[in-house]
Amino acid sequence: MDKRNPFYPLEIELKKVAALGGKMSVVVVPQDYKDHVVRNKRETDTTVYYRDFVIIATFGLGVEESDALFLSIPKGIAGFPQDGDDIQSLYLLAMQRLRFSDSSPWVQLLWESIKEVKKIEKQRTPVNRFISSSFYQLYAFMASHPEEIQMVLSSMTPAEQVEVKGLLPHGIVGTNPEEKPISPQALSRVVDGWGYQEKMQEKLEKGKNTLRRFRTIEHLFTLPSISRQVLDLVRDPLISAVKLAALIEHDPVLTSRLLKVVNSAFYGFPRQINSVEHAVVILGNEEVVNLSFSIAVYDVIKNLSPKNTQVLWEHSLLVAHLAQWLGSELERDTKDMIYTLGLLHDLGKIVFLQRGEKIGALERASDLNDLAEEESIYGLTHAEMGAFIAERWNLPEPLVDGLLAHHLPSKATHLAQAATIHIADMIAHTGSMNLEGLNHTAVCYLKGRKKNSLSSEIVAQTHADLLGRVRNILHL
Ligand SMILES: [Fe+2]
Ligand SMILES: [Fe+2]
Repeated sequence: MDKRNPFYPLEIELKKVAALGGKMSVVVVPQDYKDHVVRNKRETDTTVYYRDFVIIATFGLGVEESDALFLSIPKGIAGFPQDGDDIQSLYLLAMQRLRFSDSSPWVQLLWESIKEVKKIEKQRTPVNRFISSSFYQLYAFMASHPEEIQMVLSSMTPAEQVEVKGLLPHGIVGTNPEEKPISPQALSRVVDGWGYQEKMQEKLEKGKNTLRRFRTIEHLFTLPSISRQVLDLVRDPLISAVKLAALIEHDPVLTSRLLKVVNSAFYGFPRQINSVEHAVVILGNEEVVNLSFSIAVYDVIKNLSPKNTQVLWEHSLLVAHLAQWLGSELERDTKDMIYTLGLLHDLGKIVFLQRGEKIGALERASDLNDLAEEESIYGLTHAEMGAFIAERWNLPEPLVDGLLAHHLPSKATHLAQAATIHIADMIAHTGSMNLEGLNHTAVCYLKGRKKNSLSSEIVAQTHADLLGRVRNILHL
């Protein structure tokens, strides 16, 4: 080692840490903040002055702990061993992070928006929750600039990176940031040119207007009251067959349709089933509740054009069945709500269509661009609209949460549930487990479960089986 090298004291530190198998961070701070550094650094930390910067080696601390040590001042941090194993590269990376955290107002805006959204989510006021808790136009823009986002991510801590990736489809952000470096100035030009603030303002105004226009919709358009009561029953596993049957029999139309389904060739019972109670005994509570709810939801969908009714009802039923299957495959306790949530997940689309508003293609899965398009027209997407209506119907909170987050599970309070619906939605549209189109958080959730039983053959086969089952219900 060269003793004239200004980094020499840091290199000695790194050598010690490497020999002991510990961790260490290199923190770069502009000289203007050296008083703060002197006050806050620990005795064990080594400091050198180089050009206009103070460079600190924090012995035994990771990136996040070092960040906490020098809170609220501009800095760049790189950690050994995860970011590199020599001082030069740690210093360069820390320097790059410092420049990005300092020079791009857009990066700060991005962070403010994410933090703002978190605050809003906690407040749970209706309007805020549905129009300010997401910004799909921004996420679509981010997804269309993977290299720039990679640069932004490199200036963030691992926890922050997880949060940003959760807003994007899986596979958008690569793992090799060095491939095509972008200067901070070029990055600023791209992101500042996008006009974050004006777009956000416009979105909020449009969103408020849309919700005002749709506020009275529940008078024109309600979930049949019978299904509300059925929905309450779903949560009580001990409900007796007699009680459940009595409730369903209150509604003669529902009763006759239910009996028609259970007597269809699909179930293939040798004997005619003549009463709801008999159906409950043979099929079980859960199956009968799900069937009843499906039939009730049909009443909501059936007023659309025949083509849209057919497409949306088949899709809703298929997602409900796939989510129920997937929920049990992933061994999560998502059972009680998952079918209903699958059935209602695109409620927002139904609401828009019902009011004669236009909505993107129904035949394929909505991607970030479709959602951004809906948002640019209405100020919110079908996900927020569905959740808004569900809340006005006083549906249980986990359902509202699932509707709101079905395209962005990273924002869900009930992650397992939202991720399951999101994945089921994709399988319903493509007949396969297409990870590339899925939200990053949903893919992490799936990988965390490590289910070999979800091979592409099994997914394709289950999709085909459940589609057959759904079409049986559909044609009655
Ligand atoms: Fe959707
Ligand atoms: Fe869908």
